[in-house]
Amino acid sequence: MTADEQKKAAALAALDYVKPGMKLGLGTGSTANHFITALAEKVKAGLDVQCVATSRATFELGQSLGLKMVTLEQQPYLDITVDGADEFDDKFQLIKGGGGALLFEKIVATSSKYMIVIADQSKKVATLGKFPLPVEVVPFGVNATAWKLERALRICGLKGRLVMRLKDGRPFVTDGGNAIIDISLGAINDADRLGNLLSVTPGVVDHGLFIGICGIILMGTDDGVKTFKKA
Ligand code: A5P
Repeated sequence: MTADEQKKAAALAALDYVKPGMKLGLGTGSTANHFITALAEKVKAGLDVQCVATSRATFELGQSLGLKMVTLEQQPYLDITVDGADEFDDKFQLIKGGGGALLFEKIVATSSKYMIVIADQSKKVATLGKFPLPVEVVPFGVNATAWKLERALRICGLKGRLVMRLKDGRPFVTDGGNAIIDISLGAINDADRLGNLLSVTPGVVDHGLFIGICGIILMGTDDGVKTFKKA
């Protein structure tokens, strides 16, 4: 199975958790897109659900496929959010934000009773950190925020390379109007501590560590979809 086939299999498995009348958070990225497409088929067949998007791209995809898209302002309490991830470990800790949607993804996921991650098997890691950690920052004083981030890393005993994310040669702009600094760390041994330190760094809007948020992971593999449920 290719990685994309595994993503699709995980996305289809997530449909089992969707019940009529639910309010759903829809993630961002290629795996989430498989889910959105499959969900739209169910809706065409009569399933009635309301959906909140985690990005402009997801909103537009959902709308184009005929899903009932509402805002988080209209529906602040959601049943489940289904989203992809860049990495996950056996403590259900995630790195997200490879697509730049981490802020809205975290807001939507934490507005849901539980979050389901759908992923191919390459996303499962023993220790988070091989994937560069995205940190969403306010553009004002971005270089000052960068040295404070380096200080936070030092406090955690980490060393990382900070790279300002670009798109077409210009700073990447998130849906929230912010910039992203990607930090290559290699391994994050205490993700909770690092997440807390990043959260209190002035200039940081949010970071891609999702800790204590995800309850179920559906991972596509060559032998079918494996389900991990948090105790
Ligand atoms: C978007 O910002 C990310 O958090 C995505 O959920 C993550 O990058 C996974 O993307 P894929 O499903 O495309 O691998």
